[in-house]
Formats: sequence, structure tokens, C-alpha cells
Amino acid sequence: MNRLFNRWVWIGGLTVSVLACSCAWLGGSKEKGVATEGKFQMKAAKENYGTTIDGKRVHLFRLANANGMQADIITYGGILVRLTAPDSKGKFDDVVLGFDSLAGYLKGHPYFGALVGRYGNRIAKGRFTLDGVEYKLATNNMGNHLHGGLTGFDKVVWEGEAVEAADAVGVKLSYTSKDGEEGYPGNLQCTVHYWLTNKNELRIEYDAQTDKPTPVNLTNHSYFNLAGAGNGDNLGHVMMLNADRFLPVDKTLIPTGEVRPVKGTPFDFTKPTPIGKSIKADDEQVKFGNGWDHCWVLNQKAPGELTLCARVAEPASGRVMEMFTTEPAVQFYSGNFLDGSNVGKGGKVYKFRHGFCLEAEHYPDSPNKPEFPSTILKPGQKHRQETIYRFSTK
Ligand code: GLA
Repeated sequence: MNRLFNRWVWIGGLTVSVLACSCAWLGGSKEKGVATEGKFQMKAAKENYGTTIDGKRVHLFRLANANGMQADIITYGGILVRLTAPDSKGKFDDVVLGFDSLAGYLKGHPYFGALVGRYGNRIAKGRFTLDGVEYKLATNNMGNHLHGGLTGFDKVVWEGEAVEAADAVGVKLSYTSKDGEEGYPGNLQCTVHYWLTNKNELRIEYDAQTDKPTPVNLTNHSYFNLAGAGNGDNLGHVMMLNADRFLPVDKTLIPTGEVRPVKGTPFDFTKPTPIGKSIKADDEQVKFGNGWDHCWVLNQKAPGELTLCARVAEPASGRVMEMFTTEPAVQFYSGNFLDGSNVGKGGKVYKFRHGFCLEAEHYPDSPNKPEFPSTILKPGQKHRQETIYRFSTK
């Protein structure tokens, strides 16, 4: 009897300990994984990330906010290589496409997460005239100039420094593009701050100054997938664009100069609409882009005013990303050139439309289109751009 009693006590004790252990384990995992305000430490850490082929040292800056979100930025190309965001159950996932190491980026890739400059998107036939002088740029895309040329800002090594503010941690990246680099005039001094805030925002601030007039159109080229990088295509993401107009393009994706209302066209994303809904529409513009690869003109009240640009929700995970920018437009690109040739993080293959880009910018080909808002920066002027990607769940 006594022995039996002892046995029950022992089994009971074991059950209590197992329960206690699992509670502690759940509690522990909560601290590691769930976005509970105040449980995580805001931190910016610097690590080595390898060396470029020409021997330049590359660093990674890991930003962590007080809610458990993390953003990793490398000094090669100023690339956002990782961004974790919680789903509606508090589970974190990496929501940007990219590679596990520097080698992946050095091999060549379609601008995953990169800072793009000196001119994001296209300049027709790689030519423009400024103050009577014609400038010739590399024609690296269907006879046009794309994303700053052969060695754009996405392929240079930036100086990096960790920075801190009251409610955010960040990295300050600096790069001076020399007069004549990639054919552009003027020494252009650029500073880009990436901030990860405690409001679950990734905030990117761009500043530039020049000593000769030059076109400037800086942006970030992150490919998002709110279901997690490598977890399927983006067609089921539901997107709203705060844009009543878009820029029709020719077959080589150069804007024709027309600014067309979206109303009554497949380009109307003014109400939340699945990205895939009209992506195969029998429409000349949709066909030219092989889907979405166009510039939408934002409903901005005043030039330079921080404006809601987009809201994207992924139904299965409940993740929501809102984007705000001071830029007048956004290039929405649905990853139509992704073809499975890039094997990304964790060995996941990035197939057709597995990511989408929302590139805050001025209109493409502005240096050749006087009717578009000017992208020319002059000596003495300060170029400033701010874009925020804010994460939440529903
Ligand atoms: C931009 C362009 C696309 C494509 C991608 C990179 O978003 O508009 O046409 O070139 O960059 O692959």
C-alpha cells in the first residue's frame, strides 16, 4: 500500500514537473518568438560578412527592436538581406528574398533588397542632355539604362556605422559616387539610414548632395513575400495602392509620357485587390509588363509630403505591410522576371512571382521628360527621401 502510494506520488510528481517544464519551455519560447512589448532588447550589432572579389571587407548590421523584429543590412549594395516580422499568431518569418551569404549576392541577382542608384529604374536609350551636354550611360536593359548601370549603388561597398535613437536602432551607410561614375556628372555624396523602430517599421532615409547638376533617383529594391520568403507566389496578397494614375509604357518599359487614370483599367488598386486578380488581363499595358511592372503616381497632397503609398495583406499569415513615402510615385513590380534560377535562403528556390517590389521613386526616364517632376539635383540643394515599411497583423 505504502509502495503503491509512493508510486502515485512519484507519477504525480513527474506529471507536475513535466507540466512545469513545458510551461517554462513555452514561456521561454515566448521570449524568443512572440512579439510581446518590452521582452526583447533593442540592439544594433556589427559582424563580418566576408570580402568582395577585389578584397573589400563587407559587414552585416543586425538591427533588433523591442518587439523581436530583426533587420539585417550588409554594406555590399546596402542590401537588406533579412527582415523578420510576426504573423497573427506571433510567429516570426523572414519576409524578404535574398541569399544566405555574400557569395549569393556576388554571383549576380535581380537587385534583391538592394539600394538602387544613381538612377532607379530606366533612362531611355541610356542618354540624357543636361545644360546642353549629352551624357551617355550603359544600356543594360533592352537598349535602355536600368538601375544606375553596370556597377550601380547595389554593387558598391558602403561605409557602415551603427546608430541609435530613442525608439529605434539603425545603420548609417555612406557612399560617394565619383564625377563620371557610370557616366553621370558630379561627385554625389550619399547617406542612407536604415532604422528599425519600435513601431515595427523599417524606415529608410536617403540624403544626397552634389557638386554638379545630376539626375538622382534613389530607392530600395526589396522583394517581399509576407507568407515568408520562398513560401509560394504573391498572387494571393491583397494590395491597395493609393494612386489614381499610372504611367503607360512602351514595349521596352519606358513611360510614353502619358499619365493615365487607373479607373476602369486593370491598374486600379485603389481598393484592396488580390495582386493576381487582373495579372493576365487582355490589356496591352499588362502584356508589356508581363504583369505588373509599372510606375503608379501617388495621391500626394504636396511634393515631398510623407504619404500612404500601399497596404498589402497576406490572408494566411495575417501579416500586413503598409508603406509610406515622400516620393511622388512607386514602381510596383510583381517579380515577373523571377524564373527559379535563384536559389535563396535555406535552399528555397525563388520562382515566377515569388516576391514583389514596391520601389518608392520619381518617374522613370524623367531626365528625358520635361513634363515629369524633375530629378535633377543641383549644387547647394539637399536631396531627401524617406520611405517607411510598417508591419502589423490582422
Ligand atoms: C525593376 C524593373 C523591372 C526589373 C527589375 C529587376 O523593378 O522595373 O523591369 O528590371 O527591376 O529585375
